Amino acid sequence: MSKTMVALDFSSREDVSNFLAQFKEPIYVKIGMELTYAFGFDIIREIKAMGHHIFLDLKLHDIPNTVKKAMKNLARLDVDVVNLHAAGGSAMMKAAIEGLNEGAINGKRPLCIAVTQLTSTSQEAMNEELKIAGSVQDCVLHYAKLAKDSGLDGVVCSVHEAKAIHEVCGSEFLTVTPGIRLADDSKDDQKRVATPQYAYEQGCDYIVVGRSITTAQDSVATYHEIEAVMEGK
Ligand code: C5P
Repeated sequence: MSKTMVALDFSSREDVSNFLAQFKEPIYVKIGMELTYAFGFDIIREIKAMGHHIFLDLKLHDIPNTVKKAMKNLARLDVDVVNLHAAGGSAMMKAAIEGLNEGAINGKRPLCIAVTQLTSTSQEAMNEELKIAGSVQDCVLHYAKLAKDSGLDGVVCSVHEAKAIHEVCGSEFLTVTPGIRLADDSKDDQKRVATPQYAYEQGCDYIVVGRSITTAQDSVATYHEIEAVMEGK
């Protein structure tokens, strides 16, 4: 299975279809709140029916019972990966896994990964607004460990955190990392970016790549180039 997840951050269904039509084989895509809230779960079913793998990035965060029931419904969509906020706590994360198991199709539940601290949260905002003491790095590692102990399969994290997370949580614990740019790309609104090669060297299991692929002159060729790097070729 591909290690490159393409972020389908498009605002129209037509743009999504045109983009996917370029690929002859199934790829891994990330579908977030923007597409889901605009077009509903039909778009997920459609993309699934084309054979693509799906990371459904809806970042759940609610009381355990609600998250459990929501996850049961997401599992029924037969997506490959779902996620939630580790800040919801271990009871919520355990409930999420229960829900996914209940909704699993043919006994196979989606993988569940946790968002630790959003990369948009600064050290100052974390300490002063959220009233979480210590460094962002410590908080990320603590949340990753909590996610692992709650039965989750991995975390969304920065490339720069992947190595430390594997050291604390083990190499089997998945690290899924956005903020990827090719060496000569623009950074756009991303602050700290890394190349696919660096992500590979840091042991990232999956990378999430949006604009470097979706706005490339040849998206298919760029996707394959990046995937070859992630496969260590
Ligand atoms: O276009 P680009 O490669 O920057 O897109 C990255 C994708 O990963 C977007 O869908 C963005 O919302 C998501 N993401 C991120 N940074 C995070 C979490 C998610 O860029 N910390």
